[in-house]
Amino acid sequence: QPDPRPEEETVRYEVADDIAWVYFNRPDKRNCMSPRLNRRMKQVLEELEFRDDVKVLVLTGEGTAWTAGMDLLEYFRMNEDKGLGAVRQSQRESYGWFERLRWYEKPTIAMVNGWCFGGGYGPLFGCDIAIAAEEAQFGLSEINWGILPGGGASKVAQELMPFRKAMYHAMMGENLTGRQAEEQGLITEAVPAERLKDRVLEICEALKKKDGHALRATKWVMRRIVDMTYDNALEYQIRTQEALHSFGGKEARKEATKQFLDEKSYKPGLGTFDT
Ligand code: ACO
Repeated sequence: QPDPRPEEETVRYEVADDIAWVYFNRPDKRNCMSPRLNRRMKQVLEELEFRDDVKVLVLTGEGTAWTAGMDLLEYFRMNEDKGLGAVRQSQRESYGWFERLRWYEKPTIAMVNGWCFGGGYGPLFGCDIAIAAEEAQFGLSEINWGILPGGGASKVAQELMPFRKAMYHAMMGENLTGRQAEEQGLITEAVPAERLKDRVLEICEALKKKDGHALRATKWVMRRIVDMTYDNALEYQIRTQEALHSFGGKEARKEATKQFLDEKSYKPGLGTFDT
């Protein structure tokens, strides 16, 4: 049966201490992504993006899953029954929020508390940093039910993992633990489940102290340069740094330099200037 709850309830969020905690909120369905969840997630991300009290966004899941991928009932079967228009519409809604997340104006962290399958690789890659419980499980399970890893999932594996590992992962439909996912480059770091939130909080606290505009420019540069030649990347970095000046970048740099050279209040090699 389709989820009877209203669309608003498919995603839950709270903002505390300048951190937005966003939850996939269909724990009974292992947080699989229905068209309604995808629509709601896009709205929530947009609502939070420019709030002054949001400096970092954490995407996590209620219950035992981060997300069990696309909803095989509401996203696939029910849509396909309605025809091509419905299929394209729901693809655009899901790919739309994955894309929004990839280019989000604030730093983002995936806090992977449990299952992460297939379509979940889109938002996993969309987040800048991914910290998982060692007990979490990651899988391109598509092959286990007769499709290929679409919706960006195969591209995510190919981008993040060594090619031989990515190919095996896509073809075999076997799951990786958080620890294996870290070793193969799919996530940043795996920690025991009981340390997960504390570790994510540590990272949030560190990010909160950085200059927000410089962080935004840094994450965009890191993503954009992936498919650029060295010279184009260099040029793009120069232009992006100069564009930062429209948002106080020059003043921030002057201040940071003064704190180091004149006031000797910090060392850039060992910490962050006082913003
Ligand atoms: N789509 C639709 N319903 C789902 C999905 C999904 N992706 N994942 C879980 N559910 C539903 C189950 O049908 C079940 O519903 P019910 O209570 O109405 O029967 C409920 O969520 C709980 O699921 P269980 O299987 O009972 O939970 P369990 O904890 O035993 O297993 C697991 C969790 C391993 C995640 C299992 O649910 C599963 O294999 N889900 C599918 C994972 C998957 O392959 N996703 C698709 C990836 S490919 C893609 O995204 C394009």
